[in-house]
Amino acid sequence: MEKITSLAKRRGFVFQSSEVYGGQNGAWDYGPLGVELKNRIAAAWWKEMTRLNDDIVGLDAAILMHPRTWEASGHVENFTDPLVDCKKCKSRFRADQVPEENIAAKKCPECGGELTDTRKFNLMFKTHIGPAEDSASVIYLRPETAQGIYVNYKNVIQSNRMKIPFGIAQIGKAFRNEIVTKNFIFRTCEFEQMEMQFFVKPGSDEGWFDEWRKRRWAYYEKLGVRMDSLRWHRHGEGELAHYAKDAYDIEYLFPMGWRELEGVHNRTDFDLNRHAQYSGKDMQYIDQDGGNERYIPYIIETSAGLTRTLLMILCDAYDEEKVADKGNDDDWRTVLRFHPVIAPITVAVLPLMKKDGLAETALEIRRDLQDDFAADYDQGGAIGRRYRRQDEAGTPFCVTVDYQTKEDGTVTLRFRDSMEQVRIHRDELAARLHGEIRSYKRA
Ligand code: GAP
Repeated sequence: MEKITSLAKRRGFVFQSSEVYGGQNGAWDYGPLGVELKNRIAAAWWKEMTRLNDDIVGLDAAILMHPRTWEASGHVENFTDPLVDCKKCKSRFRADQVPEENIAAKKCPECGGELTDTRKFNLMFKTHIGPAEDSASVIYLRPETAQGIYVNYKNVIQSNRMKIPFGIAQIGKAFRNEIVTKNFIFRTCEFEQMEMQFFVKPGSDEGWFDEWRKRRWAYYEKLGVRMDSLRWHRHGEGELAHYAKDAYDIEYLFPMGWRELEGVHNRTDFDLNRHAQYSGKDMQYIDQDGGNERYIPYIIETSAGLTRTLLMILCDAYDEEKVADKGNDDDWRTVLRFHPVIAPITVAVLPLMKKDGLAETALEIRRDLQDDFAADYDQGGAIGRRYRRQDEAGTPFCVTVDYQTKEDGTVTLRFRDSMEQVRIHRDELAARLHGEIRSYKRA
């Protein structure tokens, strides 16, 4: 993880939040390459969910929701972690992550000091809306994006004439006052989620649950993730969230071990029933094609962390490869093997020299490609070094402009993964790149 954290900072993927003030725990900033990568991961998920599924539409609900939302959802009552403090070294732990013998003996696992009793700690960030800081003005930062979808599900049905089964997808920030925020961007207080809620007829929920598990697994395959680094984990009785009838996590083998990447949950009619109860509004679906039968739909949820997916993608793409045998640092390259669809830079155009009009030609080629691809331009340093820089940024294709380009219009197209080079005419570049992206398979 250290290598990934250091590459992420060096190349401008992720910076510590408020670094000049010593940093802010639980929050991270996404630099020029990081924000491109994050946007592309989000776009790939959005396309998969909405554009490729006629029965799924999008939504962007507010982060601040009526506080009753969180009473209805059960988060005020149940969204807690067990917490213990050390009276001596002042360390704070999640009690479920401290060895049982330490909890029983009330002994700090770090300094041996006395631990407090275990108490429940609500993970929701609480603040006040308006000038008065009283109980009437309490408001929460949403701990999941899902509730914004539930309270809007009837609006979406009415405005878009949706018929069950159908889904609503959303990407947005969520906030949790996490007690432990180690492992880089894995678990943070401010993060982003990509959630899809699929509304189905009660009785068909188990079939849809299986279907969505299949689709989410296939999605990671499509993204080129190493599938032997993914596995399913079914929640046992004690693990199930208060709303879930059944739940599976897709886990990834991060450097610190197997950890949750995404959850697929059968949330039943719990959330809609509770919103009906707390708001007094009718949350029933009227099936106009089925004799006006009324029912509260069941919900199958797929919930992935966007920022956690970005960490997974960085870990999965990271590779060090021996490419020469000269006995120095240049023998090795660090390469991020991103799928071209999510790579922050798709193609870099590099003039062999700055002089003799090569830079101008390279800039012209880059301009031609810019409309269709995230195209970078780099003229600084030896060509080998520039290839290495692009390998580290995960750029799948480099185009080199040389003296032959001036004569016959051909360029060198270099492939990141194999380092192979082919000579093609500059006019064929765009079509060739589209083809390469479409047919990309990770070696
Ligand atoms: N709506 C259901 C829900 O929020 P969850 O298992 O608590 O379920 C879903 O969270 C996903 O959100 C997780 O699989 C993870 O990818 C991401 N996530 C949750 N807490 C996070 C945190 N503190 N930091 C980063 N990502 C987080």
